[in-house]
Amino acid sequence: MSKAWENSSRDSLLPMSEPLTADLTLVSGEGLRLRRLTEVDAPDLARISADDEVRRWSDPRALTFEQAVEVIDNAKPAWKPSGQSWLLAITGETDDTLRGTIGLDFETPDRATVGYRILPEWRGQGVATAALKLVSAWAFETVLELVRLEAWIVPGNDASVVVAERAGYTRESIARSRCRFGDEHVDVIVYAFVRDDL
Ligand SMILES: CC(C)(COP(=O)(O)OP(=O)(O)OC[C@H]1O[C@@H](n2cnc3c(N)ncnc32)[C@H](O)[C@@H]1OP(=O)(O)O)[C@@H](O)C(=O)NCCC(=O)NCCS
Repeated sequence: MSKAWENSSRDSLLPMSEPLTADLTLVSGEGLRLRRLTEVDAPDLARISADDEVRRWSDPRALTFEQAVEVIDNAKPAWKPSGQSWLLAITGETDDTLRGTIGLDFETPDRATVGYRILPEWRGQGVATAALKLVSAWAFETVLELVRLEAWIVPGNDASVVVAERAGYTRESIARSRCRFGDEHVDVIVYAFVRDDL
């Protein structure tokens, strides 16, 4: 990790570091709103993590309610020196019903991986595709150093492949044993969206 990265004024870059206010919205568009998570989302966050499809294609560990609250607490300051990850709620543009979550993990300010999970009752309605388009455009607009976003998709997760491709991501390679889910390392298909794709 470079000195510049350690010393960069990350807090001034991101709206996530502002104090929480009544309006939790970070960005809206595509019929959706991306907002900060709050404790109210904890039951749904636990429910998403326990879903069979989520556990099949990503982290297999289901969160308890208490762990979900902890995840939300940790996500609040969002851009922490130790974490550099954003986990956002996806809701309707004009209603606050949670449809899923979308997150960005920054390895460095110029590169991040994106992950998305949609609640079962909202799947197949274009939510993940719209949220991925929205978060990608917003991330490039918000973090000026950002040049590359990656989506890591486990082979066989065809719905996620459709989402990445519809959101403008390009399939690049297979990265073997790249992703750790629980105790297991799995291969992933690497999809990428670079600033020049905007
Ligand atoms: C993958 C996931 C995020 C997709 O969310 P979504 O909101 O349903 O996605 P969208 O509606 O934007 O698009 C999905 C498309 O894939 C299609 N699809 C769904 N299952 C599919 C399958 N098994 N094979 C091929 N296409 C499939 C859908 O029909 C839809 O296309 P359509 O609009 O032509 O009908 C959601 O299923 C999910 O949360 N899965 C569990 C977690 C996960 O896998 N996350 C991604 C990790 S990389």
